[in-house]
Order: sequence, then structure tokens, then C-alpha cells
Amino acid sequence: MAANGDASQTPLFSPDLISPEVKAALPEGYTCRPIQQSDYHAGFLDVLRVLTTVGDVSEEAWTERYSFMAKRSDEYFLLCILDGSGKIVGTGALIVERKFIHNLGLVGHIEDIAVAKDQQGKKLGLRIIQALDYVADKIGCYKTILDCSEANEGFYVKCGFKRAGLEMAHYH
Ligand code: ACO
Repeated sequence: MAANGDASQTPLFSPDLISPEVKAALPEGYTCRPIQQSDYHAGFLDVLRVLTTVGDVSEEAWTERYSFMAKRSDEYFLLCILDGSGKIVGTGALIVERKFIHNLGLVGHIEDIAVAKDQQGKKLGLRIIQALDYVADKIGCYKTILDCSEANEGFYVKCGFKRAGLEMAHYH
């Protein structure tokens, strides 16, 4: 629970997993932290709208999904960047998959990276990827993978990723 006893401000995962280097490299006044339940009111879903359709998610539905993730806090690592006013301006997720192969290896899946339109180009996307990579490294993932469009390939190359394989999809 959060220090002030407000459960809605309890971090989704340990703040010790937030890279000190990333925090130090953010613009003045900006912070990076795990998401928390109260982020429904801090603009979390609005930031995701730059990525894709979010839909009309009620606070009740948000809380239910958040609680699901919070019970699996060794699997769902969603973090955010806030500007000096406490508004969420960027987010990203690392989902950890537990395998039998590679000696019960862990694979990190990077998902749902988004930076608010008016905040793009300030290296916040890079910092989000670095922060997620730090988490993956700390918890012992042997690799981190993601899918992206051709238009975003250059961004991920700048973040140190390289093209590997081919994505296939079956939509349901
Ligand atoms: N193509 C090529 N290079 C790029 C691109 C791009 N689309 N976007 C950024 N870069 C470069 C920047 O110029 C910068 O290069 P530099 O170091 O030489 O200056 C470097 O990558 C880092 O850029 P940032 O400033 O960190 O990028 P930004 O904060 O704008 O975030 C992001 C990039 C996340 C793609 C942002 O534009 C965004 O939110 N776009 C809409 C949502 C989206 O497409 N998300 C990714 C989906 S894929 C997924 O989630 C796994």
C-alpha cells in the first residue's frame, strides 16, 4: 500500500525496478514510475489513444482490469512518465512470459508504447523502452521482443532493437 495509506496510489510493481539512469535523464520535473489505480484520472487512457482505439472504459472496468494485473505483478509491468504537473505523457508495458524452453526462460514482451502527441521528440519514447529493458534485465528475461509497424522500425533501431523474424496475426 502507498505510504499515505491510499490503496489507489499503490504502485503496480516495485518502484525499485525503475531505472535510476532513466529517471535522471528525463526532462526537468518529469518522473517515471509504475502505474497505479488512480492513473485513470491522470490521463493514462488518453495517452494510449495516440496508439490505437481504447474505447469508452468506465472507472469500474478500469479498476477490474487493474486489479487483475495487480494480482499478477510479477507478470505485468506497466509504467508511465509524468510531466511536472503530474499528467501522464507516456506509457509502456512489459509482459513477462514464463517458458519451459531455455531452462524455464522468461521472455519479455514490450507492448503499448505511447507518448502524447505534443510530447513526442523529447526522447520520452526512448526512456520508456530503456526503463522496460531495465525491468526485463532485472527480473531475468533472456530476451525482449516486440511487434511494430514499418513506420516505427527506425525508432526501435535507435532503441537498440533489430529486426528478427516476421509477425503473423489471426484476429478474433
Ligand atoms: N521512425 C524513425 N525514427 C524515429 C521515429 C520513427 N517513427 N520516432 C522517433 N524516432 C527517433 C527520434 O528521431 C530519435 O532519434 P535521435 O536519437 O536521433 O534524435 C529517437 O528515435 C528517439 O525518439 P523519441 O524522442 O524517444 O521518440 P518519441 O518520444 O516521439 O516516441 C513513439 C516515439 C513512441 C513511436 C511515439 O512517436 C508514439 O507514441 N507514436 C504513436 C504510438 C506508436 O506508434 N507507438 C509504438 C507502437 S509499437 C509498440 O507498442 C510495441
